[in-house]
Amino acid sequence: MSSKKRKIIIFDTTLRDGEQSPGCSMNLDEKLAMARQLARLQVDVIEAGFPIASDGDFEAVKAIAQQVRNVRVAGLARAVKIDIDRAWEALQYAAQPRIHTFIATSDIHLKYKLKKSRQEVLDAAVAAVQLAKSYCEDVEFSCEDAGRTEDDYLAQVVKATIEAGATTINIPDTVGYAIPSEWGERMKRLVKNVPELTRKAVLSTHCHNDLGLAVSNSIAACQNGAGQVECTINGIGERAGNASLEEFVMACRTRHDLLDFTTGIVTEEIYPTSRLLTNTTGVFVQQNKAVVGKNAFAHEAGIHQDGMLKDSLTYEIMTPQSVGIVKSNIVLGKHSGRHALANRFSELGFDLEKTELDKAYKLFTKLADQKKNISDEDLLAIIQDGIQNIPEKWHMKYIQTIGGNQVVSSAVVVLIDMDTSTEVKDAAPGDGPVSALCKSIDRIVGLEGTVTDYQVHSITEGRDAVGEVFLRVTFDKVEYMGKAASTDVMDATARAYLNAVNKALYARQNSKSKKRDRHGAGV
Ligand code: KIV
Ligand code: ZN
Repeated sequence: MSSKKRKIIIFDTTLRDGEQSPGCSMNLDEKLAMARQLARLQVDVIEAGFPIASDGDFEAVKAIAQQVRNVRVAGLARAVKIDIDRAWEALQYAAQPRIHTFIATSDIHLKYKLKKSRQEVLDAAVAAVQLAKSYCEDVEFSCEDAGRTEDDYLAQVVKATIEAGATTINIPDTVGYAIPSEWGERMKRLVKNVPELTRKAVLSTHCHNDLGLAVSNSIAACQNGAGQVECTINGIGERAGNASLEEFVMACRTRHDLLDFTTGIVTEEIYPTSRLLTNTTGVFVQQNKAVVGKNAFAHEAGIHQDGMLKDSLTYEIMTPQSVGIVKSNIVLGKHSGRHALANRFSELGFDLEKTELDKAYKLFTKLADQKKNISDEDLLAIIQDGIQNIPEKWHMKYIQTIGGNQVVSSAVVVLIDMDTSTEVKDAAPGDGPVSALCKSIDRIVGLEGTVTDYQVHSITEGRDAVGEVFLRVTFDKVEYMGKAASTDVMDATARAYLNAVNKALYARQNSKSKKRDRHGAGV
């Protein structure tokens, strides 16, 4: 294999084929932001839309052509004059414009959709390329449903459109029907039957993912002469989508030992681009999606976590950083071992002694049986409640809150002072029942807290779900966490706040007695 690798042209069609898929439509500003990010990713061509399809599509292609200058911009057009004229109207502003025109060539499409003969389609294809060429040097022609087009006819259309001036010939597997070996052979035969295909033009492939083979088919095409791959971010596109850009690019990078081609993609921009798309459309990728899924760099099994902590090469074939993800995720759950737990505690600033770790691990496995994923807050609660054994100075007896959008919120709180076994009652108004509760507790315990984080999660389902409240409170510039669960969110809130109060009082008492000890020792 030669050391100089062929560079595959990455033709990104997220804004055209991708945008056509349900739930993925974007407005003009969103498309512009996406196009700018694709330029940062350094795709070679952005297919910005289908200008004849709607005024919105036209305006988006025009704006991208005008504003995103450092990348080639393509617009799609059927093989008819009105489409090509409109595409050029939008594309004329681009620094590097490309008209992409297409017509179906399979007998199924000719008979049922176009109701045209092979000769009529051939003539339309040639006329379309000639018209596009009169506007712009860079013309791409696609034989829609090439995957089901008869070999000789496909070669005839490809030959004629190259003669008419097409500089890229795209061979789509429109319905995602091909198998990798078959698709590779198809490309090889086409290059053999039409030698000018790779001499005068670039052979492109555009694979759909109906059988989950779009990326594999794209790789097979490149192994057999294709020089351009059409793909989308997160693999979005018609039906099951298009070949996923990130998967194709990372396969080229990771298996450079086997593949004699590469891409110019800045791979560190992959994850930011994927996130921009999901944040824009609200269409999330599956958790186990290759390269960009939530679990792509997550490890839960104890054996895997242990291996990862020794050397990430054990279970990762590419680094998360290479695709723009900050770091691998060691997910703490019931499959995790002590090594992973100790490591996470250490990251959180707690280097536990062996006996402490044993105790923490016991509490952790008990919790992991009830909860799927253990968060950092859970771990801190294990430390603060289970390992450090904080005594309860104040105990909750009962609360009463008033809230609503027509009344001033207020709360009454009754606490028991555990040192003297006396009940203390107080009340306070607040901006809402949560703030009223916190103020009432502050008045009783003699502290003044500021809640900096407040989260409610449901642990069980249904109307009587148990809600878990987690909050962070700052008392005198020191932050404490409080956590409690109850079927009543206000009850859980008051207990969580009191939990933080008890920790703060204990910490104060501890530091006072330490000071006394130091003075007593004459330091
Ligand atoms: O899938 C397809 O055939 C297409 C063409 C328009 C290129 O998207
Ligand atoms: Zn397509």
